[in-house]
Amino acid sequence: MHIGVIGTGYVGLVSGTCFAEFGIDVTCVDVNEDKIKRLNKGEIPIYEPGLDDLVEKQVKANRLFFTTNLPETVKKSDAVFIAVGTPPRKGDGHADLTYVYEAAREVARNLEGYTLIVTKSTVPVGTAREIERIVREENPQADFDVASNPEFLREGAAINDFLRPDRVVIGCDSERGRELMRRLYRPLFLNETPIVFTTPETSEITKYAANAFLATKITFINEIADLCEKANANVQDVAKAMGMDKRIGGKFLHAGPGYGGSCFPKDTLALTQIGHDYNAPQTLVERVVAVNTARQRQMARRIIAACGGSVEGKRIAILGVAFKPNTDDVRDAPSLVIIPELQLAGAEIAAYDPVAMDEAAHHLEQVIWCKDSYDAAKGADALVIITEWNEFRALNLDKLEEILNVKRIIDLRNIYKREEMRERGFHYVSIGKSDVLPAPAVAGLREVKTA
Ligand code: NAD
Ligand code: UGA
Repeated sequence: MHIGVIGTGYVGLVSGTCFAEFGIDVTCVDVNEDKIKRLNKGEIPIYEPGLDDLVEKQVKANRLFFTTNLPETVKKSDAVFIAVGTPPRKGDGHADLTYVYEAAREVARNLEGYTLIVTKSTVPVGTAREIERIVREENPQADFDVASNPEFLREGAAINDFLRPDRVVIGCDSERGRELMRRLYRPLFLNETPIVFTTPETSEITKYAANAFLATKITFINEIADLCEKANANVQDVAKAMGMDKRIGGKFLHAGPGYGGSCFPKDTLALTQIGHDYNAPQTLVERVVAVNTARQRQMARRIIAACGGSVEGKRIAILGVAFKPNTDDVRDAPSLVIIPELQLAGAEIAAYDPVAMDEAAHHLEQVIWCKDSYDAAKGADALVIITEWNEFRALNLDKLEEILNVKRIIDLRNIYKREEMRERGFHYVSIGKSDVLPAPAVAGLREVKTA
């Protein structure tokens, strides 16, 4: 079996490499010649833990190839996965399907023999049907089916998520297409991973619904965090106790600066637009989008307040610019909102991130990029933790005491213990805990160990 994967971004490159790991011959195609050149030299254009080793292994096994030649790839493929970007359309926030439809047309022109065309990109309901129409229009003789197979991987944990998913969703009306997908995902069938077969429409909506639900969970706990701050409660304990209810679950209840990344912001926005198109307004998700957008700005105001109401002429050290740890992706990262707001208020920004500084430098101006956390902290009037990289969890506090101009830490990810920081004399501000009153001694709650 041979498959083609169109688009070698986070999803295409990871999916293609993991399908090769399943024993399938895979050719990954991209229009970006530089990307393909680098991949053919063994360089991985994105930061994703473990991906370099897996790519090397599959290339050596002669199962994984990279090319810009889409026609040749399509001709020899039993299935072609479309994994190109679906960014927000400028002006209205709809998913921009230009790249998907361009790819579909090019695929159509080069089909030879039966081929399954699969959308892996996140696409609005109705896209699989539209691709079917486009392919028929472009190539009336073509023998093909279209399937929707959304991807649920997370950046930073992408390989594990692909190889050991909670479920696989396959939306396909044709038995021939479903049988091909069963063969492609055979290792997952064998280890009894749940595979949901459904229609393309249900599959397409499932993807947006899953992302919007997770974004809602985060936004919910962020608003509860605001309440905790005002009511002398502790959001981490609230989240822990809530999450012990199996119907709620403890995941995605970490309060923070608001969700970011290449998917939640664009997908929540796109779902609200899809809702309007179908006259089924997604009012809850609309609120989630609004609350999250406002929250990222609020974070800048929180930092300014913690600095005594002004950052004019102050040096602010920023730790973490990626939208989450273990990725170099800065798309819609909270840092891209917070840093410019602080600069506007007159702050000088010294920032450090283990891998995302090159990417962030394309989006931010006049930032002093530093070689490590201490380089950023030197002489700073406040240290702000925006991304919870592991290396920020164990900072040398003695050293920070020495080099910070003011012993002030604003921890937007709650990775330090407030009591400890205060005992050491830091002015410490976190999320979802009252700054004024000491945390109440809720005996028992703190002692419960969760799995
Ligand atoms: P990306 O921007 O990292 O990569 C897309 C790639 O497609 C680029 O390299 C681009 O050059 C290439 N491309 C565009 N048009 C092409 C064409 N006609 N032929 C060949 N290549 C083409 O995007 P991504 O983050 O991998 O996301 C891809 C899709 O997967 C999106 O719809 C996204 O919503 C979805 N998704 C992403 C993630 C994630 O973690 N990033 C997870 C699940 C789903
Ligand atoms: C998310 C989903 O988790 C994936 O299932 C999905 O496939 C992907 O989007 C997609 O469609 O692209 P990802 O964006 O890589 O994955 O990262 P997440 O771990 O979900 O984090 C997203 C954002 O939410 C980050 O800014 C993160 O800091 C924030 N977050 C997450 C919180 O603020 N609190 C939490 O408890 C969890």
